[in-house]
Amino acid sequence: MPSDLLEQIRLSGDLPRHVAIIMDGNGRWARERGKPREFGHRAGMRAVRDTVEGAIEAGVEVLTLFAFSQENWHRPEGEVRALMTLLELYVRRERRDLKEKGVEVRALGDLHRLGPRTRAALGGAVEYTRGGTTLRLNLAISYGARAEIVHAARVLAERVQRGTLIPAEIDEDLFSSHLYTAGFPDPDLLIRTSGEFRISNFMLWQLAYTELHVCSVLWPDFSRENLYDAIAEYQRRERRFGRVAAS
Ligand code: IPE
Ligand code: IPE
Ligand code: MG
Repeated sequence: MPSDLLEQIRLSGDLPRHVAIIMDGNGRWARERGKPREFGHRAGMRAVRDTVEGAIEAGVEVLTLFAFSQENWHRPEGEVRALMTLLELYVRRERRDLKEKGVEVRALGDLHRLGPRTRAALGGAVEYTRGGTTLRLNLAISYGARAEIVHAARVLAERVQRGTLIPAEIDEDLFSSHLYTAGFPDPDLLIRTSGEFRISNFMLWQLAYTELHVCSVLWPDFSRENLYDAIAEYQRRERRFGRVAAS
């Protein structure tokens, strides 16, 4: 039974094609319950499931979820291990259902730093879901936007050095095509949960004109209704891209 809000956002049109989410607040959610941080990460999986279904229902084309940052490698070893295990569990357990729903999974980030088991689980889900056309789901893992930009710069510099590219040919489109998000439109809407007003090294290039939505809900409590709220608010915004308002 679709909610009224879902009906409303579908009818009003102008859907965000690409929604990106910084899934934050698992640790605080667990602490509020007197539990270890891992308990919050585990609970966050339910929110991922609901959000993916909500994105499909709403007609979003691309959903990018920030699951693990490069900086998160500096967390205590036990927490990093727990996060990796949960990630493996999520992709192994969900890939069949994701495929049935027409979701195509991709992983964005410095995947070389992942352990072989995690890499295999992710690679398996990417292969298994390839060709899905309902929703493209990007999991940003071991992801850092500055590293992504540096990587693109290095690849282009190597091409210049080899003589297959001249510096004047480097423009915004060429640069974008060397980022992990090559082939995806920039996010229209960025949601960050847990009330933090910062970007935390996420998609620094791609967010240039993205609409930002911070919601106070901690990630494990996030549901498709919260996603619809964010989309409804997005639809009330006026995006100007530096120009003057349409009269
Ligand atoms: C988000 O929740 C999950 C990851 C960053 C991996 P946190 O673990 O950052 O939770 P808080 O921000 O400490 O509450
Ligand atoms: C951002 O959350 C990274 C992810 C959600 C994966 P953090 O909790 O790591 O960010 P900071 O430390 O609050 O900026
Ligand atoms: Mg956090």
